[in-house]
Amino acid sequence: MTKEKLKKSVGWAALKYIQSSKIIGIGTGSTITYFIEALNSIKEKIEGVISSSNYSSNQLKKLGIPIYNLNNLNGLDVYVDSADEIDAHMQMIKGGGGALTKEKIIAAAAKKFICIVDSSKQVNILGRGPLPIEVIPMARSLVARELVRLGGLPEYRHNVITENGNNILDVYNMKISNASLLETKINNIPGVVSVGIFAQRRADIVLIGTKEGIKTIV
Ligand code: A5P
Repeated sequence: MTKEKLKKSVGWAALKYIQSSKIIGIGTGSTITYFIEALNSIKEKIEGVISSSNYSSNQLKKLGIPIYNLNNLNGLDVYVDSADEIDAHMQMIKGGGGALTKEKIIAAAAKKFICIVDSSKQVNILGRGPLPIEVIPMARSLVARELVRLGGLPEYRHNVITENGNNILDVYNMKISNASLLETKINNIPGVVSVGIFAQRRADIVLIGTKEGIKTIV
């Protein structure tokens, strides 16, 4: 089965966790595009969504799915998003699409985070690929120097301004043996808006699209 088919199967599998009359948090990326396609098939049953990016909002608007403002809600029941990497402890690296800050906010607001991935995203230790970090533009070099001190090789993601008006640093070669500790350390560097480590707010349920079918980790 192709990776695309696995993404589609896991996107549709997440529908099982969607309850009627609820507002659903929506992540960003190619896997979530399939979840949005699936959500469209039950859109009359849900109240609406909270979106993590303009990319997802545009898809949702085209389908006529109502988008709410998180500030007008007391909280959120469920957030569905994908990840760039996920480990056996349901800790993730996110931000490949640059939407990590809004994703982190919605994940923090949600009672349940359902992560949907194809099997290629599973890793033993986080850090196989780059770790995205959103930074305030004037702090870019300062943050990059601190990241080198932490053992990483930061690269400026050229020609990318986030929806919050910031820059992205992609950090290579980072040893992530204690994801939660590193999340705190990077969060504490002045100028960091968000780090793409989702360890302190990890997933609650993981659905993995595999050649053998959907694997669920709770
Ligand atoms: C978006 O900023 C990311 O956090 C995505 O969740 C992640 O990159 C997964 O994207 P794909 O579904 O396209 O692999």
